[in-house]
Amino acid sequence: MKLISGSSNAELSKAIADVLDVPLTSVDINRFRDQEIFVRINENVRGEDIFLIQPTSAPANDHLMELLILIDALVRASAQRITAVVPYYGYARQDRKTGGRTPISAKLVANLISKAGAHRVLTIDLHAGQIQGFFDIPTDNLFGQPVFVDDIKDNYSKKDRQNLLFVSPDTGGVVRTRSLAKRFNADIAIVDKRRPKAGESEVMNIIGEVEGRDCILYDDIIDSGGTLCNAANALMDQGANSVTAYITHGVLSDPAVERITGSILREVVITDTIAQPEKVKTCEKIREVSVATLLGEAIRRIANDESVSKLFG
Ligand code: R5P
Repeated sequence: MKLISGSSNAELSKAIADVLDVPLTSVDINRFRDQEIFVRINENVRGEDIFLIQPTSAPANDHLMELLILIDALVRASAQRITAVVPYYGYARQDRKTGGRTPISAKLVANLISKAGAHRVLTIDLHAGQIQGFFDIPTDNLFGQPVFVDDIKDNYSKKDRQNLLFVSPDTGGVVRTRSLAKRFNADIAIVDKRRPKAGESEVMNIIGEVEGRDCILYDDIIDSGGTLCNAANALMDQGANSVTAYITHGVLSDPAVERITGSILREVVITDTIAQPEKVKTCEKIREVSVATLLGEAIRRIANDESVSKLFG
């Protein structure tokens, strides 16, 4: 097995390499003056089982192109099998036509990765489970949930856990939230976001009893932070005792960090699927937990033809 890292999340790649005790294969990734990407794999990969780690986070187009070019280099270097390890799958939110003459970009990206020559894909918490079916190559969509379950156990005593209420910030996340709540035998609530008329501000209805409860908002993506901070306000308005958030992918576009800092959220826990700038790393309200062990174990199992479904617990 060989591990190769693109440039989008070197820290995560290094952590996965440490988990597996396999060194990262040396790669040069350079730019021509006009910003075209040029890569060179510096070791023989002929006949190798390759795991290429590259989340397609911002700048999404550059990171995606780099992934495709690295796959092409590996195909032409006669790698035996290439697994694209894409912990955060960019363009996932464009998973259906939202109107006339609009694209399904999540499908286009799946086509590009397959056409470039990847044999498998490994990812975490796809925005919509059905994106797995956009690929005609084996695709393992791991759940970040076990990492959060461990973190909640570490940070809440058994007694405190009895007061937890798991909250989906929109109706689309109910299945995900119910699954996490089940691990703690806890109830769920749902934030029902509605805009009565175009141009009128959003109304947040809470489905469920939140008074006096310690709420955990659970989502796959935090981007601008609007969904999360508004949901937190609505929960506190309904008498919640506290609101904390667990989010798999910290996209965190501006002004998310400022919003979180000024919000009533107690803490936002994200994973390291996306590399974060200093401003996120030093934000007192944001804490990162790692998916390196989860991904490392999945890679080990794929390489050894073992079951990956054991990791879904
Ligand atoms: C939407 O369906 C996603 O699950 C997230 O709730 C959304 O992408 C978050 O975006 P923002 O942080 O900009 O409100």
